Amino acid sequence: MNLFEHKVMQLREFLNECNYKYYVLAQPDVSDYEYDMKMRELQDLEAQYPELDDPDSPTHRVGDDRNQEFQQVEHRYPMLSLANTYSEGELRDFDARIRKLLPEGEEFSYSCELKFDGTSISLTYHDGRLVRALTRGDGQKGDDVTNNVRTIKSIPLRLTGAGYPDDFEIRGEILMPHESFKRLNAERLEIGEPPLANCRNAAAGALKTQNSAAVSKRGLDCYLYYLLMDQLPTDSHTENMAQAKSWGFKVSENTKLAKNIDEVWDFINYWDKEREKLPYDIDGIVLKVDSMAQRDRLGFTAKTPRWAIAYKFKAEEAAAKLLSIDYQVGRTGIVTPVANLTPVHLAGTVVKRATLNNADFIRSLDLHNGDTVYIEKGGEIIPKITRVDENLREPGATPIKYIENCPVCGAALVRNEGESGYYCPNYANCPPQITGKIIHFVTRKAMDINCGEATIEQLYKAHLINDIADLYSLKVSDIEGLERQGRKSAENLIQSIEKSKQVPFDRVLYALGIRYVGEGSAKILVKKFHDIDSIANATLEQLAEVKDVGIGIATSIFDWMHNDNNIKLIQRLREAELQMALDVAEDLAPKSDKLSDKNIIVTGSFATPQRRSELEKMVEDNGGKLQSGVNAKTSFIVAGAKPGASKVQKAEKLGIKIISEEDFLAMLE
Ligand code: IVH
Repeated sequence: MNLFEHKVMQLREFLNECNYKYYVLAQPDVSDYEYDMKMRELQDLEAQYPELDDPDSPTHRVGDDRNQEFQQVEHRYPMLSLANTYSEGELRDFDARIRKLLPEGEEFSYSCELKFDGTSISLTYHDGRLVRALTRGDGQKGDDVTNNVRTIKSIPLRLTGAGYPDDFEIRGEILMPHESFKRLNAERLEIGEPPLANCRNAAAGALKTQNSAAVSKRGLDCYLYYLLMDQLPTDSHTENMAQAKSWGFKVSENTKLAKNIDEVWDFINYWDKEREKLPYDIDGIVLKVDSMAQRDRLGFTAKTPRWAIAYKFKAEEAAAKLLSIDYQVGRTGIVTPVANLTPVHLAGTVVKRATLNNADFIRSLDLHNGDTVYIEKGGEIIPKITRVDENLREPGATPIKYIENCPVCGAALVRNEGESGYYCPNYANCPPQITGKIIHFVTRKAMDINCGEATIEQLYKAHLINDIADLYSLKVSDIEGLERQGRKSAENLIQSIEKSKQVPFDRVLYALGIRYVGEGSAKILVKKFHDIDSIANATLEQLAEVKDVGIGIATSIFDWMHNDNNIKLIQRLREAELQMALDVAEDLAPKSDKLSDKNIIVTGSFATPQRRSELEKMVEDNGGKLQSGVNAKTSFIVAGAKPGASKVQKAEKLGIKIISEEDFLAMLE
């Protein structure tokens, strides 16, 4: 194998690995810039040595975002990508090419737009109604994500205004604004899941969620930028988009019609600085020839239009020297390495620390002590290290050796198969795990006990609390003598602990801090199982069967509930008189008029004998009417196991829907 062949193989392997991490795992670990540069290097080599070309090379595929669980549908018009560049010179080359392809001296203008950093979507409208939403997929076929897209509030389900065509497609970008992204990652951290790398992955991941109710809570947004139909309203793209705006679509205001490439360059420089202030990520600027007739004449290459190009911003980065690594231990025992760096300015702040994610990440960087590293900031709160400058490595520098023992309690760290991080298994005695669990327990969304982290640490150090149940044995006299604590603050704390005994069971379940059990899954579990014993006695299959729970959460709950220490803990919390069952009188179902005008029958057997009457109460609480026999007025039947055979038969004859308890609860969400 010669040198070039070897390089080509190496680049293909690298890019295939990146694609896998990006598209399958949704956990990319290289910057876009690095990816694009490597892709370009490979393209150049393949062009130079055509004998090395291979149909399976990553240069021949537009990334593929398809997910087998969605139906795949052919695009009416292929969904192409854009050529992109990071350099002013190449941008000017693009402009020169356009001028050469158009008749000499013919005027034209560019529509300059933001390049939204999300996931692309193609929407089809018939008679003013959204009928289909497809992801890009491989460019020819995409995933049908219509149900999920329907939950995005900025996408009109019915068009407004007049003059919209009967049948057309419109394309745009689904994105996750910074606010939604921060909220989502805070929630993930709270339940022990790793945070998502960036807004783009979060948006793409949300769109592929199997449960559209969960999608609706992700706070996604959508900007539209490309109208497709056989006969467009006008010759100008800008005017067409203005029309689309009048039909109800969200079209960016931050556009400019540029008369020449210098005006484009001004627009680029403006947004390179101003993008920091936008509430969502953009990764560049797109410029498109504005006239449709000119676009037709310019045409397409195999993969991209000749009339448009994306200029990509280089993510703002800074170099810093690695001083040391701290290993933080979270409440679930997960160890997170954090780099301490020489302070540097980056995107308006001084950065001294950056996350290193986990052991695999450190290894993939081939990080050595004292290395010079590059850091980048995206929508995320903590900057991340993207690469190491090996040329600046001190001779004799040693590679980072990941710790083998917990930095706090000394226990040997372990790693579960398939996970990229290590954790400390000493959950019962490792101080940050003990205090971390208590801190989570008292938070507002959990037990809402009025107690800060410092007080928890103080009580723990004074040997007054060693687990969450100990809070309920605290006395005013235990606390008032401690530093910074007086009688009043001690009384307030005890009062607040006392009050937490009224906190409903779903929040108690969340407060226990079982890995992966967030507020939402705790509510679902409580609706399904009603009390702690039913959850503790459920089989793994029963837990995993619950809608939106799945095997990961189910295994975590099952293991937690079968651990001797936890069984004792539950017993002590029960003795402290915490709410360990759903309060039927104050059922979680919201009271509304969602079922007004609906005649409903509840039939069959449910998880507990009283469940049927609870469901019937929910029907009435939400404005529905209960029926005992099926007739033409019946709206639907909520059926448990073994529903009445005659009812089912009659319903089938009359074409009346029979739904499950879960469907019914989802209706009331
Ligand atoms: S126009 C024929 N306009 O960038 C291509 N794309 O790298 C039509 N994107 O696949 C695309 N902002 O997902 C266009 N204002 C914008 C855009 C934009 C973001 C995305 C889009 C596209 C990718 C190409």
